[in-house]
Amino acid sequence: MKEKIQEKFKTLFGEEGILYASAGRINLIGEHTDYNGGYVFPGAIDKGIVAALSVNGTQKVKLFSLDYDEYVEFGLNEEDKPAQQWACYVFGVCRETIKRGGKVEGFNAVFAGDVPLGAGLSSSAALESTFAFALNDIFGNNIDKFELAKIGQSTEHNYCGVKCGIMDQFASVFGKKDQLIRLNCKTLEYKYFPFDAKGYKLVLIDSCVKHELASSAYNKRRASCENAAAAIRRNHPEVEFLSDAKRVWLDEVRADIPEEDFLRAEYVIGEVQRVLDVCDALERGDFKTVGEMMYQTHFGMSRLYEVSCEELDFLNKLARKCDVTGSRVMGGGFGGCTINLVKDEIYDSFIDTAVKEFTAKFGHAPKVYPVVISDGARRL
Ligand code: GLA
Repeated sequence: MKEKIQEKFKTLFGEEGILYASAGRINLIGEHTDYNGGYVFPGAIDKGIVAALSVNGTQKVKLFSLDYDEYVEFGLNEEDKPAQQWACYVFGVCRETIKRGGKVEGFNAVFAGDVPLGAGLSSSAALESTFAFALNDIFGNNIDKFELAKIGQSTEHNYCGVKCGIMDQFASVFGKKDQLIRLNCKTLEYKYFPFDAKGYKLVLIDSCVKHELASSAYNKRRASCENAAAAIRRNHPEVEFLSDAKRVWLDEVRADIPEEDFLRAEYVIGEVQRVLDVCDALERGDFKTVGEMMYQTHFGMSRLYEVSCEELDFLNKLARKCDVTGSRVMGGGFGGCTINLVKDEIYDSFIDTAVKEFTAKFGHAPKVYPVVISDGARRL
């Protein structure tokens, strides 16, 4: 990929650029907890974005996407937003850097990626953090890593219409080889946990159902949670985020909020605790508990949070039937992948069965991605 990028860069701009990269992410557990001030437990993966950049001495960004085979040029003012969605991610990162007092001037860039799009692996966060990191480096801005992650998150909010939490951009910026990171999304304290699951494999099975995260469904979930938190806050003013609430406090307001909001909040409160339980279990090497929690998360995401779909429920049931230790829908949901914790000795037969049975039922094969926990944003 690097060679192709540099080759194109040379053709377009007559020189080589400086190479930067960042990664997509998985999340072992802690879904839809980030914007509720709860815990998440992600890691960066070996699929990501690579970009070549150089400063061009103008006030224009000249940008080429190898995957879209498309060239776009834009200025750096608010009114210069490009029409192409893919370019808006880069434009947003420029704008958010400038809003934070960072210097951004014209630059040339060519980029490409291998994060499957719409699979729930955060291809957009990978793109945002590659450019947030790269601009910080080439313009010498000295913005700290958390702020780089927030630049990506604000890009989603202000230029792409998704009111996402901080998890994806955090994982993409802070990711380290072989380490998962537990992040408290309220205090932003984090801790690396070596992920050393001897005897097990982590594998993603992609339903290839395209998830429309940008659609209003995600923002609607967030609004439900905020509504539930506001109701609880009336009785318990210390509740800043839904994750601060005890389960019984939610029960107190059941009659005051729509049932849908109650179910969403019930899921989130349970999920925050599951992250802590999984981290404890991992430290004990207790993968059985880790796996059970993953199944519980799937149940919650499917029945309470309602962000699963027929294909993902099918894959989850199949995993149970094949004696897979843990399985659940991963990421925002509405399609995408399940993440599976599978014992080495049943791995091949599980993948075989999953591919065969899924194909027989839905008429197309799922994709299988073994997970390798890798480094996040960096200069190559
Ligand atoms: C998407 C969002 C994240 C997070 C997850 C669900 O990936 O970008 O902020 O909310 O969904 O856990």
